[in-house]
Amino acid sequence: MTEITPDQNGELKLPDGFLERRNLTSQSRFWLDERGGDLILTPVRPDARKLYIEVTTACNLNCLTCIRNSWTDPHRHMDEQTFRHILEGIPKLPELERVIFTSFGEPLVHPDLIGMIAAVRELGLDVTLGSNGLLLSDDVCRKLISLGVDQLVVSIDGGKPETYKGIRGTQLQKIIDNLENLKKLKMDLQVTKPTLAVEFVALESNLHELTDVLNLSSALHAARLIVSHVLPYTAELNAEKLYGYGPREPLFSGSWPVQSDVWLRWGVVETPRMSWGAERRCRFVQDKSLVVNWNGNVSPCYALSHSYDYYTVDGVLKHVGEHSFGNVNEQPLEEIWMNQEYSRFRSNVRAFHFPSCPDCDLRETCDLRQNNEACWGLNPSCADCLWAQDIVRCP
Ligand SMILES: C[S@@+](CC[C@H](N)C(=O)[O-])C[C@H]1O[C@@H](n2cnc3c(N)ncnc32)[C@H](O)[C@@H]1O
Ligand code: SF4
Ligand code: SF4
Ligand code: SF4
Repeated sequence: MTEITPDQNGELKLPDGFLERRNLTSQSRFWLDERGGDLILTPVRPDARKLYIEVTTACNLNCLTCIRNSWTDPHRHMDEQTFRHILEGIPKLPELERVIFTSFGEPLVHPDLIGMIAAVRELGLDVTLGSNGLLLSDDVCRKLISLGVDQLVVSIDGGKPETYKGIRGTQLQKIIDNLENLKKLKMDLQVTKPTLAVEFVALESNLHELTDVLNLSSALHAARLIVSHVLPYTAELNAEKLYGYGPREPLFSGSWPVQSDVWLRWGVVETPRMSWGAERRCRFVQDKSLVVNWNGNVSPCYALSHSYDYYTVDGVLKHVGEHSFGNVNEQPLEEIWMNQEYSRFRSNVRAFHFPSCPDCDLRETCDLRQNNEACWGLNPSCADCLWAQDIVRCP
């Protein structure tokens, strides 16, 4: 700790070394807040790094696991004006590195997705696309390659056609054909991007096929296999979850060789945590991410970007209300990022200043918890969050 004392005028000055280490200057602005009796200074900076854009809530599938089965939100595309407002905000967030086109819907059903990706690439940002893979036609793959899309994440929740169809309602072979074609195109054109990641949502009924999906990922030259547990939106999904409150055996691990530029590196399986633990860390906030919904609402993460019900790790049904800190159609993106409430929320999440409801004696009956609020007075609450436990994961 560094001691700071007021000068002759009674003013406190932060030491130069302290400011330099944090890329701040004597002119930097701060939010001054209190937490647990301590004073907190949070710099007011446009330092967002990752931007998730939900271009649509519509989809060409109706997967068993999907939140879209248990919400009442409309199935709508983002309109031109909303996207334009996001684009106008990007240069005002100079530390922004990546735009991720995905959320709760299928980005490729938006009629102008390719135009949107092109506009983001023109601004010099890396792009990740998350998709179910069904609309990855030859033409779309060629466009993704020519636009320099960096990463493609495709969901494959089963290694056998019947299991995949049972969850996703369509034919696995169509996805494999599309991804084989992408692999061939990349080889013919001698490019390595977009690199492929496969995402697998683990359930009681598909876990035995994780090895098949690993082999498939290797055959498709995927660089990563991201395994997530299910966020149980329904009682049926709750009965299928593989994690719990107490310790459990890890799922699986493995790797395979994959070509990357001139190097040969290892494709890896990234597995989730199996049980509730003391360590809580929000990747969305740590990575300085923000999520913009189809209608322009700005949320800190997927978990708070829509209203829905789900079952907590210890099986309590809770309701989460959408929480947004502004709308890009009403306020510039960078101002929303730096506003007081959003800055305070991120500061509380970084410190993880929330109780742990699954460890509380009142966990089964507490109505605050059932409405995603918490007794420490900081709302919305992250106290039950499965993302912060690394149990539910995303790219
Ligand atoms: C909602 S989808 C949107 C992108 C695209 N439509 C897709 O299916 O890949 C984003 C990711 O969430 C995963 N997902 C779907 N339902 C889930 C659940 N209940 N819990 C955790 N992840 C889920 C999907 O498998 C996918 O990898
Ligand atoms: S493809 Fe993606 S968005 Fe569509 S229903 Fe399945 S998980 Fe949901
Ligand atoms: S909100 Fe507070 S009282 Fe209620 S379950 Fe969580 S920790 Fe316990
Ligand atoms: S901890 Fe969970 S609910 Fe809280 S900001 Fe992070 S992802 Fe969202």
